[in-house]
Amino acid sequence: MSHAGSEERTGPSPYRLTFDGTTVTARPGQSVGAALVAAGIVAWRTTRRAGGPRGLFCGIGVCFDCLITVDGRPGQRACLVPARDGMRLSTEGDREGEGGDGD
Ligand code: FES
Repeated sequence: MSHAGSEERTGPSPYRLTFDGTTVTARPGQSVGAALVAAGIVAWRTTRRAGGPRGLFCGIGVCFDCLITVDGRPGQRACLVPARDGMRLSTEGDREGEGGDGD
């Protein structure tokens, strides 16, 4: 006999990622951005002129506010990149010509 919700509690093991050297866990199927927000990290880059914090905004790949470096590849949209075990995330440095600053 199974119990409702038991599969959810015993599902796949969480992934372990690092963000600027700090370990963050993610559930399989979760985006990088969702994992960061679930870990209490809501901003991972700053705007070019005003230095305003940016993280998830639209959550659907449109605004580019969530840019992050993933395994050494800058300019990745955290809301679209699926989390994987062992992934290395780092703060996105602002780069000339990138959109989405909003200031
Ligand atoms: S949150 Fe808008 S593109 Fe990722």
